[in-house]
Amino acid sequence: MSTSKCCRICCVGAGYVGGSTCSVIAWKCPEIHVTVVDLNQERIDSWNSQSLPIYEPGLLDIVEKCRGKNLKFSTDIDQSIIEADLIFISVNTPTKTFGLGKGRAADLKYIESAARRIAEVANSKKIVVEKSTVPVKAAESISRIFASNRKEGVELEVLSNPEFLAEGTAINDLLNPDRVLIGGSATSSGYAAMKILSQIYEHWVEKERIILTNTWSSELSKLAANAFLAQRISSINAMSAVCEATGADVTEVAHAIGTDSRIGDKFLRASLGFGGSCFQKDILNLVYLCEALNLPEVAAYWNQVIALNDYQKRRFANRIIGSLFNTVTDKKIAILGFAFKKDTADTRESSSIYICKYLMDEEAHLVIYDPKVSRQQILSDLKHPTISDNPSRVDKLVSVTDDPYSATQGAHAFAICTEWDLFRTLDYQRIYDGMLKPAFAFDGRVLLDHDRLHDIGFQVETIGKTVGPRELCLATTPPPP
Ligand code: UDX
Ligand code: ADP
Repeated sequence: MSTSKCCRICCVGAGYVGGSTCSVIAWKCPEIHVTVVDLNQERIDSWNSQSLPIYEPGLLDIVEKCRGKNLKFSTDIDQSIIEADLIFISVNTPTKTFGLGKGRAADLKYIESAARRIAEVANSKKIVVEKSTVPVKAAESISRIFASNRKEGVELEVLSNPEFLAEGTAINDLLNPDRVLIGGSATSSGYAAMKILSQIYEHWVEKERIILTNTWSSELSKLAANAFLAQRISSINAMSAVCEATGADVTEVAHAIGTDSRIGDKFLRASLGFGGSCFQKDILNLVYLCEALNLPEVAAYWNQVIALNDYQKRRFANRIIGSLFNTVTDKKIAILGFAFKKDTADTRESSSIYICKYLMDEEAHLVIYDPKVSRQQILSDLKHPTISDNPSRVDKLVSVTDDPYSATQGAHAFAICTEWDLFRTLDYQRIYDGMLKPAFAFDGRVLLDHDRLHDIGFQVETIGKTVGPRELCLATTPPPP
């Protein structure tokens, strides 16, 4: 490796984070050769095709600009490690499903196996950058693996460089980041490595936005950022329950508090609960860390963010059941949206999965429509052992359609579970005409024009607001103690 700059990058793990980040690096740094490697041949084949393994607006354009020039996708992991000056580790760190820390701690087996592979095959000096979200001190574990397997002349300097991109807006987040965070050790080799990584980002990010910290601060900042964001959603969702019980409107409350510049207006959209691969996993990880550090009060504090999120999902499903005269058995309910948010086909921890589960537990018949999620993905999520103990029941109760109008035809109710823009512009008069009466609209994303739906004839239920005559709501408000 050149001592002052990076010419070749290897990224181990061709997922959301590795694939998107490295495509942008290749585009912005034409003189750097970037190879993204993965154990999964099918995934690499998709990266090399017209149909990328992830749906991310703007990504295909960038991949096509660079692929075959300075961007390569390959399963030849060893060769790519050998050739690289700098290696990103972007493998998955799922929540453990067994053993110590089950259901909470991050499973570090993929990180460890990538680190051991690097230690085994690297034959020259390299910078190894931990990009996956990891518990604090994971970089230290990687450094120990390297130190215990050290070869003459092979210096492996470990940095932390967490990624803050959100799915659906990944390309914009990468091109215009609020900040780039680089953590390293307070040694001359640590500073030199941080400088080299910083120079890569400086191709398109102003230097003032690149924050250099110690390794642990960098690792913890990633968990802290996700915990704070999720906490805001749980806070507004907690308020939504109070709004429903009092006649306040959560959108008005969010606007009123969001104009306070100390609070800010982002991440205050009440919903049926947050999903995605990061928030729950990272908070559980933080909770586990706090418990391990003997900080039970701190652990309990953050755990409540998850508890409130679970409550919100359950509350929305109960609202559907309660409104439909306390029974949904054999009733047809259209589920509009299955992805965990709009503009992605990702369904990891999607709230929609849990709403479907609760309704299936009551023997409701579900017809699911999502513009991007495949039928195969929907059925596999619902047949997962944590969701259903009987896959054939899923086949009996669930059908998937590629048209929102056929999903709602003959249904007792529809429920908006993902905030896809196209749901705003559906012909709701047509939908109403095709549904059984009374026709129920459950808006789990506070997305639709509720007054218009009400005027059409729907009984409308949404998060954090009572639609229709206000006396109805006030009548159900308990008297003050
Ligand atoms: C998140 C972080 O935003 C990102 O910085 C980090 O790198 C990875 O985790 P992501 O999970 O892709 O990104 O999506 P995000 O936009 O944060 O949304 C997460 C969930 O919260 C979604 O289910 C979304 O619908 C929900 N959400 C978001 C709300 O319910 N209300 C809001 O106001 C914002
Ligand atoms: P993220 O959303 O964090 O990017 P993903 O699950 O989408 O995570 O992607 C992680 C990728 O890492 C997967 O494609 C997986 O096959 C790959 N992976 C895991 N372990 C290794 C390894 N040791 N070597 C190469 N690739 C790996």
